Amino acid sequence: MSLTGKHILSSDLFSRDALEQLFELADVLTPVARGRQVTRVLEGAVMASLFFEASTRTRLSCESAFLRLGGGVTSTTGAEVMSIAKGESLADTSRVVSGYCDLIVMRHPETSAVHEFAAATNVPVINGGNGAGEHPTQALLDMFNLHQEFARTGRIMDGRRLALVGDLRHGRTVHSLMKLVSRYEDLTIVCVAPQSLGMPAELLEFVERRGHRIELSDDPETGLKDADLVYSTRLQTERFADRPVPYSDAFRIDKALVSRVCRADAVIMHPLPRDGRPGSNDLATDLNDDPRLAIFRQTDAGIPMRMALFASVLGVADAVRGSLSPATWYRPDYTGPEDAPFYRNVAS
Ligand code: ASP
Ligand code: CP
Repeated sequence: MSLTGKHILSSDLFSRDALEQLFELADVLTPVARGRQVTRVLEGAVMASLFFEASTRTRLSCESAFLRLGGGVTSTTGAEVMSIAKGESLADTSRVVSGYCDLIVMRHPETSAVHEFAAATNVPVINGGNGAGEHPTQALLDMFNLHQEFARTGRIMDGRRLALVGDLRHGRTVHSLMKLVSRYEDLTIVCVAPQSLGMPAELLEFVERRGHRIELSDDPETGLKDADLVYSTRLQTERFADRPVPYSDAFRIDKALVSRVCRADAVIMHPLPRDGRPGSNDLATDLNDDPRLAIFRQTDAGIPMRMALFASVLGVADAVRGSLSPATWYRPDYTGPEDAPFYRNVAS
């Protein structure tokens, strides 16, 4: 299936083959993402990034990915600085912005907005997160990173036990992830959530229809046991009409819990941001030096995967391999101060 010219609104669009082709291209683009090689396959192309909701990773990594491909970026954040504040419709905005660029990445707090936006343009629209709906590019990068983590520890995706933990009701990253993992075979997916924050029934049914097993739990102590992947999520406080009830201590994924119940080779992921405010009981920082914690390898995976997606959607994927040349500027050997021990001792 060719991705050229497609809107990327849901992760359901990607077959297993399409995913694996993207992984291969993302591997080729990783040195470009790390600032060690250069490509100009998108020289002259322009991306518009329109973020109507808070973002650090998605907006900046999409922009960085497009720039690293040689393209240019025009960007706006918040409806209050757009003419939407003067009553302009999403459809008019979409048609207008489409005349200024070749690809649009958009995030909006309402689930339907990205669909309205895409219906008003022939320029490819990438869903950067639509309310409690989906976040397909996050799921793509999660799968790319997970595939690397499993490969490093001698496992494949098929047959794995995956624990998704936290606010599974409002967490759009896990909605997109459910659709992507279901492309593989023979999975057990353990949905570990407080009673009121369970995974939507249609997603559970969707995954079961594709032949996987679902287990439900409201207790991380038992739900995380034997899992190959622990995918933890933040309480989506911005999606609650009333003040949300915070996670109980039981949902705090920390060193003590992980050493009590997790496999020695478990992969621990989180889409981030993790909520570090007192009492939030999100993923704890005391795991930062645990090689099982993949969160920064996960964010790093976002650039090459988004580059692979943009190159594919804009029809230049086949030109990437022949376009690479060495970069000449300074780059540190390891991006973060805590990266060196992992890459020296674990990843080799
Ligand atoms: N950053 C992710 C999202 O926008 C996850 C989160 O915010 O908790 O969906
Ligand atoms: N993971 C993610 O989408 O992060 P941001 O909300 O910071 O973009």
